[in-house]
Amino acid sequence: MLIRVEIPVDAAGIDNLLREAFGRDIEADLVQRLREDGLLTLGVVATDDEGGVVGYAAFTPVDVQGEDRQWVGLGPLAVHASLRRQGLGEKLVYEGLDSLNEFGYAAVVVLGSPEYYGRFGFKSAAEHNLHCRWPETEKAFQLYVLADNALEGASGLVEYPPHFNHI
Ligand SMILES: CC(C)(COP(=O)(O)OP(=O)(O)OC[C@H]1O[C@@H](n2cnc3c(N)ncnc32)[C@H](O)[C@@H]1OP(=O)(O)O)[C@@H](O)C(=O)NCCC(=O)NCCS
Repeated sequence: MLIRVEIPVDAAGIDNLLREAFGRDIEADLVQRLREDGLLTLGVVATDDEGGVVGYAAFTPVDVQGEDRQWVGLGPLAVHASLRRQGLGEKLVYEGLDSLNEFGYAAVVVLGSPEYYGRFGFKSAAEHNLHCRWPETEKAFQLYVLADNALEGASGLVEYPPHFNHI
């Protein structure tokens, strides 16, 4: 198993994986549209011995109260059903956080299970008066700080690309 940054030849494998992992087309179509519009800050893939994509994590730019503060949103995250609960999801998330840290990004937000993302160090975004546009996501919306000063003057609405408004 190899964990690495996405390259163009991975696109079809990522597409298939997302359709399979979520059992629907929404996430795969979303990632396609984000890629077409240059809005994938980072994609991390897990590949098997044949080079097939078996895991994927996408990171996209987000604004904080209308401002670009070098924050990104994690999602979608997916691992092939036959390979779950072996730590692959964890490897994808850590590889993403490491790369983003190296590139100088300031913080990462995610909308998902606090039980799952809490193990990586994501904390409630609401505690910092940060929220996203979707209702009843106060517990699910979480934050991982990369840069020491990421939270200075940061509060309010964290806005994903409009592509996410259709999911
Ligand atoms: C979520 C997902 C990426 C995890 O991948 P994975 O490789 O199994 O992750 P890991 O091996 O690192 O961690 C597995 C652990 O996370 C837990 N877990 C998985 N999804 C969870 C969720 N939604 N809520 C809480 N815990 C969850 C598992 O129960 C397992 O716990 P254990 O280690 O105590 O047995 C994978 O289950 C998946 O692709 N699911 C379908 C797509 C999806 O829902 N993606 C997340 C939303 S964007």
